[in-house]
Amino acid sequence: MFRPLLLFFLLLLGTRANGWTLGNHGSGKVFSFFSRFWSESVANRDVDDPASLNLDKVSALSQPKADSRRLSSSPAKTSAISHAVAVGGIGANWGSQSSHRLPPDKVVRMLRENGIQKVKLFDADYDTLKALGGSGIEVMVGIPNDMLANFASSSKAAEKWVSQNVSHHLTSNVLIRYVAVGNEPFLETYNGSFLRTTFPALKNVQDALTKAGLRNQVKVTVPLNADVYTTASGLPSGGDFRADIHDFMIPIVKLLSDNAAPFTVNIYPFISLYTDSNFPVEYAFFDGNATPVNDGGTSYYNMFDANHDTLVWALQKNGFGNLPIIVGEIGWPTDGDKNANVEYAQRFNQGFMTHISGGKGTPMRPGPINAYLFSLIDEDQKSIQPGNFERHWGIFRYDGQPKYGLNLGTTSSGTLVPARNVSYLDSKWCIMKPNARLDDSQVAPSVSYACGLADCTALGYQTSCSNLDARGNISYAFNSYYQQNNQLDEACKFNGLGTITRADPTTGTCRFNIMIKAYYSGAGRISGFSRKTLSLALGLTIFFLIYL
Ligand SMILES: *[C@@H]1O[C@H](CO)[C@@H](O)[C@H](O)[C@H]1NC(C)=O
Ligand SMILES: *[C@@H]1O[C@H](CO)[C@@H](O)[C@H](O)[C@H]1NC(C)=O
Ligand SMILES: *[C@@H]1O[C@H](CO)[C@@H](O)[C@H](O)[C@H]1NC(C)=O
Ligand SMILES: *[C@@H]1O[C@H](CO)[C@@H](O)[C@H](O)[C@H]1NC(C)=O
Repeated sequence: MFRPLLLFFLLLLGTRANGWTLGNHGSGKVFSFFSRFWSESVANRDVDDPASLNLDKVSALSQPKADSRRLSSSPAKTSAISHAVAVGGIGANWGSQSSHRLPPDKVVRMLRENGIQKVKLFDADYDTLKALGGSGIEVMVGIPNDMLANFASSSKAAEKWVSQNVSHHLTSNVLIRYVAVGNEPFLETYNGSFLRTTFPALKNVQDALTKAGLRNQVKVTVPLNADVYTTASGLPSGGDFRADIHDFMIPIVKLLSDNAAPFTVNIYPFISLYTDSNFPVEYAFFDGNATPVNDGGTSYYNMFDANHDTLVWALQKNGFGNLPIIVGEIGWPTDGDKNANVEYAQRFNQGFMTHISGGKGTPMRPGPINAYLFSLIDEDQKSIQPGNFERHWGIFRYDGQPKYGLNLGTTSSGTLVPARNVSYLDSKWCIMKPNARLDDSQVAPSVSYACGLADCTALGYQTSCSNLDARGNISYAFNSYYQQNNQLDEACKFNGLGTITRADPTTGTCRFNIMIKAYYSGAGRISGFSRKTLSLALGLTIFFLIYL
């Protein structure tokens, strides 16, 4: 009884690796490890459906109070959602790993029209912060992992960063409230690269904020993946920091506590489902359909609550039971995997919004939850090392169009408001020439070239473009490359296999996109245009050298 339950729970503590800096799947590793254990226990027990077996055992222990949770998490409670907004507001992660970014001012307008009151950034991009000035939107700026070593060794560097990237913008009415020092720096895939620099960097940034007189106004934090904690008992109450990083976590948590700063954690039920086919699907969602996990009389109906409260217990165990918690990333992707689709993403995100509405919190932390959806907009240049879904986390597409109905409780329409006044390129596409032969020896190298540089993550088993035939697949790849290169004629050659068409090849769920116009960042920097042109020139040169 004990062992299977433990293994089961470890599976339910899903985490997600963010591919920002290195592109990784550290948590994936954690999960395949637990999954292997789980499969072994399945084999040993010789039962048909072990997951449901264990769940039934768990439910036999569940308490009546569980039923009220089940009721209170029923969907479509608009008034409750509106209340949540009054309580804490919802945030969104705004990343910039796109070939064509929407202009920051258009994104800020979109944020405002959607009533999104907080954004979390992964750097301190000047134009982005400038656009946020005067918007009334709260900002968390980020320090990328590759800058940690510098800040760890130099308090001067930290002071310069605070002056240039915080103080300067505060004077322009940018509501910077948090500085995120690193991004998931303790992921196992980083092999401990940032273990020794995260705390000293955090300390130097805090000292720099204090020196700048901002100690009360701007709080430091370190967004961490939920894989920094685990549970020996398999239940939230057994939570503690991972043994190998325990001694590195304590000073960080203490510094946060000393400065009334929050702990930031990223929680990803999707990854549990992605990495383990035995994961009970309903437990990832908030509809109360999963058989609960019982922790000393407290019933957990979804992975989010259980995972969050494992952190609360871990903090409590180490003497920091009152440390505020921010959910830095939570969300669901819409493409690139069989479980990454619009239906699940809508169900998860709407379920989460309803779940946190009314400020009831989790069993261990009643009260409003401070959370940032992951993410605002799709990013077509994220590393796909974690999986093809990585470029599809947005609640909005690359062009600021909503992917599905989502009621954040903040708009009068009760649904997402699209970005306005988006400038697209011409209505034309690149496809495979109708008379080109599928068995042409140049087809395969052309497709792999296009997909290597552009984005083919919507192709494949149970994705939005899985309905395409071979010719459709090739055309999709060609078009992706052509659009990413701003519809340059040369980017639709493909050794004579490509041709430009004015007839939209979009079929069913498979969209052949038209790219938006490139955004050029402010003066004094290398513009997106010159960089892109350069890389295109290089790419084409290599292409022609190899294939022509
Ligand atoms: C401010 O932040 C930007 C973007 O993260 C970075 O490129 C720049 O170097 C930072 N300034 C300083 C002084 O570190
Ligand atoms: C971590 O170590 C593994 C195995 O030694 C190696 O394959 C991987 O590239 C390393 N990753 C980083 C980020 O150093
Ligand atoms: C829309 O964009 C055009 C051209 O970029 C600009 O002239 C116009 O003012 C914009 N309209 C709004 C409402 O932002
Ligand atoms: C289309 O491409 C996907 C991804 O490369 C592949 O899995 C699928 O088999 C292809 N379909 C056809 C009909 O070639």
